[in-house]
Amino acid sequence: MSVSVRDYIRTIVDFPKDGILFRDVTTLFADARGFRMAVDQLLHPYAGQRIDKVVGLEARGFILGGAVAHQLGTGFVPVRKKGKLPGTTIAQDYTLEYGEAVVEVHDDALAPGQRVLLVDDLLATGGTAEAGIRLIERLGAEVVGCAFVVDLPDLGGRKRLEALGMDVHALCDFDGH
Ligand code: PRP
Ligand code: MG
Repeated sequence: MSVSVRDYIRTIVDFPKDGILFRDVTTLFADARGFRMAVDQLLHPYAGQRIDKVVGLEARGFILGGAVAHQLGTGFVPVRKKGKLPGTTIAQDYTLEYGEAVVEVHDDALAPGQRVLLVDDLLATGGTAEAGIRLIERLGAEVVGCAFVVDLPDLGGRKRLEALGMDVHALCDFDGH
């Protein structure tokens, strides 16, 4: 059987706390063949469409999103954790497993009508991606698709994003956390 993106992802038991199986994409990123495969497969459904910008979610979404943007020939826009971007920003709250967080984007990073591909490494509850989507839409741009390497379907993120009308593209699934 041929090797797949999923085969390059390492599972770390009990990280960051007991009972969690952490899906570690650094082993995928570190492998030349695996990384190329992941980037090519992430952008594949969108290669024939007009995409104006790729938006990547901090932090691992930057690694993938930068490569996807390069391959599509678009610019790259970072959505960052609060306080990291130097220019004028808009902010969006979202809920984490424990507590709240805030992400930001520069308010001039996207223009109304632009077509955006959102990229991150992993979809769990969908809270992070939804915050990114809200920022993109608040700037008047349109999310053409949301592309992830890993989906954890048990955590409901895909359903949550699809309920917002999103096209969700994930390269592989894992059960549980
Ligand atoms: C992880 C992962 C996604 C997010 C998914 O990032 O990289 O961005 O969680 O979870 P959700 O679907 O429940 O929102 P994390 O917040 O750990 O930060 P990092 O990427 O900066 O390490
Ligand atoms: Mg992340």
